Amino acid sequence: MPSFHCITHGCQMNVNDSAWVARSLVLMGWHESDMENADFVFLNTCSVREKPQHRVLSTLGVIRDTNPRAKVAVAGCVAQQMGETLWERNAHVHIVLGSDGVAMAPRAFARIAKHPNLRLSHLDFTDTFPDRDSQLLPFKEQESLPTGTLGASLKNDTRAFVNIMQGCDNYCAYCIVPYTRGPRKSRATASILHECKEWLARGTCDITLLGQNVNVFGEDDGGDGTSFSQLLYKVAELDGIKRLHVVTPHPRDFSNEIVQAYGDLSVLAPRLHLPLQAGSDAILKSMGRGYTNTHYLKLVENLKKAKPNIALSTDLIVGFPGETEEDFKETLRMVKEVNFISSFSFAYSDRPGTRASEMTNKIAPALQQERLNRLIVQQAEQEEQWLKSREGIETEVLLEAHSKKPKYSNIMESHQERPASLIHQENSEITALSNPDTNTVEPDQNNTSWQGHDSWGNTVNVIIPNHLEQKAGSIVPVRILRAKRHSLLAELR
Ligand code: SAH
Ligand code: SF4
Ligand code: F3S
Repeated sequence: MPSFHCITHGCQMNVNDSAWVARSLVLMGWHESDMENADFVFLNTCSVREKPQHRVLSTLGVIRDTNPRAKVAVAGCVAQQMGETLWERNAHVHIVLGSDGVAMAPRAFARIAKHPNLRLSHLDFTDTFPDRDSQLLPFKEQESLPTGTLGASLKNDTRAFVNIMQGCDNYCAYCIVPYTRGPRKSRATASILHECKEWLARGTCDITLLGQNVNVFGEDDGGDGTSFSQLLYKVAELDGIKRLHVVTPHPRDFSNEIVQAYGDLSVLAPRLHLPLQAGSDAILKSMGRGYTNTHYLKLVENLKKAKPNIALSTDLIVGFPGETEEDFKETLRMVKEVNFISSFSFAYSDRPGTRASEMTNKIAPALQQERLNRLIVQQAEQEEQWLKSREGIETEVLLEAHSKKPKYSNIMESHQERPASLIHQENSEITALSNPDTNTVEPDQNNTSWQGHDSWGNTVNVIIPNHLEQKAGSIVPVRILRAKRHSLLAELR
């Protein structure tokens, strides 16, 4: 049977799509291998900014140099945009799959394995959510597969990510996603609940619902009468769920019912990633975000009333066309006022076909960088204060892996240390400047150091005496001992 290797760029959507493709191939009897020895390479791509897009072409070069006989499938946002030109320029590319076309990956791989000279593309957007569950055997059967193979593909199955919708209709002025992911379409509620139950039956207790604008779930033709707030209540009452997260909500569409759900549902994590993008009303307007900074602050106030221990993180774009020093200061002010505990911040990058790319008042890269640096300094201080404020508190940690072991499979180039954002941490200029903490706790022979997350999404290293055996996926009570640069150190209580 053929072997395959996955390389994933981009957001959690892509990570999820790659995990599904890997699972499907394993179910077909294929096996995962390193890139040097793989018969096929699956490259899942991102084009949200210019940098990640360039990475695709360089990665294709690396694949060709390391393993000239591998046949490559390119999927994701760059594949959607570049289509068949990808194999015109790169002879080793045999399959091109757009955002909805990923569902066809297993069949496409099987066909190329049989007919090695074929080239296949699936680039059309489908009218309905491209549900792929029917293509997978029940999870129970997957469990009988050798661990290591499937475990790697599943990345870290103590936490599950479940797609609830595909695409986006917002057309924010800077953003390419509506073009690469297609029109918004919701997944059927029954299918979402079915997948959640499957994960919970496997012992996963931490679920993240994924979509580009989750708040408007159900409000398109694919909707079945269930709103996003109703979906939250339905998922929250499933047996075995302990933590529920959502990524990404849009501040404009955050209804009172959703705020209410934050108050009512204790499993809804007290950490919310709520993209602000910019602090000044003029820039928000020009971005087409559909809210003002006052609206955003009011929403935060309501959320804090509903869930007093809630903490927020955000996405920010610096140096959007026309951004003045005053506009930028408004962003700094908002970051302080909301007291974000972390932010993924980027210099604005022109994307072809977007409204912003046509704007004439572009900001010079050096000025973008200078503003970004100021933002980084302020955000770093806030993160430090936040982590410091955790010292001494008693909380709970979901154990994920021994701190010494690599947490995630090497098939995933991307990784997610913190609660999901639809952008990747490694792509964020803020976090790229400072390495995440490596574990500095040296467990002695009587203790083991575990890594996990508390319900605010902080990475926590927990020192656990060896005689108290633990397994990944359990939630343990801890006391936070010390704040480190990007993580916390704790002991069992
Ligand atoms: N649907 C999500 C975001 C998806 S894109 C939302 O609306 O929040 C992820 C992030 O990439 C965005 O939040 C934005 O901060 C950043 N981004 C998108 N397009 C960009 C561009 N052209 N330049 C710089 N950053 C961009
Ligand atoms: Fe859609 Fe988010 Fe992009 Fe706006 S930033 S167009 S909401 S994906
Ligand atoms: Fe990138 Fe596409 Fe996700 S552009 S951020 S992979 S939706």
